[in-house]
Amino acid sequence: MEKKISILDIIKSRRSTRRFKTDMLPDEDLNAVLEAARWAPSGDNKQPWKFIVIKNKETMMKIVELSPLKGFHAFLRNGPVLIAILVNSKRSKWVVLDGAICAQNLMLEAWARGLGTCFSSWYPTMPSSIAKEVKELLDIPDNWIIITFTPLGYPVDDPERAYILPAKRKPLERLVCYEKFEG
Ligand SMILES: Cc1cc2nc3c(=O)[nH]c(=O)nc-3n(C[C@H](O)[C@H](O)[C@H](O)COP(=O)(O)O)c2cc1C
Repeated sequence: MEKKISILDIIKSRRSTRRFKTDMLPDEDLNAVLEAARWAPSGDNKQPWKFIVIKNKETMMKIVELSPLKGFHAFLRNGPVLIAILVNSKRSKWVVLDGAICAQNLMLEAWARGLGTCFSSWYPTMPSSIAKEVKELLDIPDNWIIITFTPLGYPVDDPERAYILPAKRKPLERLVCYEKFEG
């Protein structure tokens, strides 16, 4: 009998992936990952997002070069695909939250298909002068916010190279209280 995979299995096993095989993924998987992002909830159902699919290695390299966090962002050029998740700042007050939820949808569908991703820190910490240069590079209009860039591709086989950081989580007892705040 086919074993059912629960969404919790996917959530718990997903790892931020920073090293990828060079293989390109099928369009079907790319579209499914974008489709998962499209179906994210959003405030007032504004769907304030847009995704840029980048396959050009030179563009990936330029983005890494422009980032002041070179070491921390070097993995952005490692995948066969790089996806920018953007939100339109004019659509509502919640666009940043919408964009973050959308990113998680995308990352989980990717993982369910054997594909790795890694959220990178852009909004709100990227200096505006750098964000502006990256937006110019990608023809992104002023009123759009870059929430994140994530690479997308098949993780290399060696987990230590693929994921780098350990997958630890705080125990649930330290995070949950009942009826009133405790601790
Ligand atoms: C808002 C945010 C920003 C992040 N920025 C980076 C980053 O710039 N570089 C990086 O290597 N990982 C980044 N990560 C990935 C985290 O390091 C990773 O999610 C965390 O270590 C837990 O590991 P896991 O995703 O494998 O469970 C970011 C994650 C989030 C949610």
